[in-house]
Amino acid sequence: MLRSKLPDTGTTIFSVMSALAAEHNSVNLSQGFPDFPVDPVLTELVYKASKEGHNQYAPMAGVNSLRDGISELVNKIYGVRKDPEKEITITSGATEALFAAVSAVVDRGDEVILFDPSYDSYEPAVLLSGGIPVRIPLTFPEYGLDREKIISSINSKTRLIILNSPNNPTGAVLSGDDFKFIRKVILENDLYLLSDEVYEHIIFDGMKHYSVLSDDELFRRSFVVSSFGKTFHITGWKVGYCIAPEELTTEFRKIHQFLTFSTSTPFQYALSEYIRESKRVPDLKGFYEKRRDYFRVLVESLGAGRENGFKLFPCGGTYFQLLDYSALSDENDLVFAKRLTVEFGIASIPVSVFYKNNTDNKVLRFCFAKEYSTLDKAAECLGNFLRNS
Ligand SMILES: Cc1ncc(COP(=O)(O)O)c(C=O)c1O
Repeated sequence: MLRSKLPDTGTTIFSVMSALAAEHNSVNLSQGFPDFPVDPVLTELVYKASKEGHNQYAPMAGVNSLRDGISELVNKIYGVRKDPEKEITITSGATEALFAAVSAVVDRGDEVILFDPSYDSYEPAVLLSGGIPVRIPLTFPEYGLDREKIISSINSKTRLIILNSPNNPTGAVLSGDDFKFIRKVILENDLYLLSDEVYEHIIFDGMKHYSVLSDDELFRRSFVVSSFGKTFHITGWKVGYCIAPEELTTEFRKIHQFLTFSTSTPFQYALSEYIRESKRVPDLKGFYEKRRDYFRVLVESLGAGRENGFKLFPCGGTYFQLLDYSALSDENDLVFAKRLTVEFGIASIPVSVFYKNNTDNKVLRFCFAKEYSTLDKAAECLGNFLRNS
């Protein structure tokens, strides 16, 4: 029998919950994707690019004009110049970039610091490189960094830290002090940093996103990953990118060229023209903050007059809202999430799936990147559950 290289990995929970939601015709707030239409200008641009003949392999590192466009955007947002030729690579979603970055620096026996909970694609990438994931729990219920634990876990085998802010699944945002702390740890120990910044533009309440791009010294040891899927509501296009200094980009591209070689050509042309014309990213802060607040008010109003109810966690960024249901059920979060989907028509993600040992704090993740009417329906389903509980 074939010996599995990932014996503990099953089908991702996103596929499981989305399939369950479809089967039961449930409102799907599980997987993180918007249900509103993309800008028709973008879809027209894809059509135009394809009609104009951009249908063959794109350059391995990405279409030049798109890399130029990213460099300009980064300059405008973070005030730094990144070399499109030597430092920017277009990938098939952030997922590919994360995998290639891990593969580029992690060797057999290297330790990689991951936080618990963390996005589910990190650990398999580390394992497939022969690395050893070292999970450091985030504090609960704040989901903050435990500095002492991070420092005490570093040894001569530690190679890489994978950081994600704003954070999926927790919605927590790295503070300026946290950023300084991570910076110090990386530089003092000659580690590498993989900074997953796919939600860089989705941050609320006037908070600042501390991008590794804006710190020259830290950037020299880092891969910074982002995704157009999140920024332009086009998760299905799977176009992301990695920005890293030349030395790291050289190694990154050696992996990328045999992983996918290049990313879909017409989509790259469409994005490059779109960026060139708009010269900015949309105001995602206001756009998603309104939806976050709308969903939070709906959930709060469900609890009116009740002693128990769903408890809201703070959400500083991303489009995910966590709800604590510990006052409502003793079921573990996977069982509870499935029951809500099947019996009450609302799908979410149990947060335990983001933990190494499936730590169950009785917390579910709801994606609010949805039409207001979808959020209304979701709240109605949660209300039905409450009335029956
Ligand atoms: C934290 C995080 N990183 C990476 C990704 C993957 O991005 P992409 O769809 O561009 O591959 C996601 C998608 O949900 C994510 O939440």
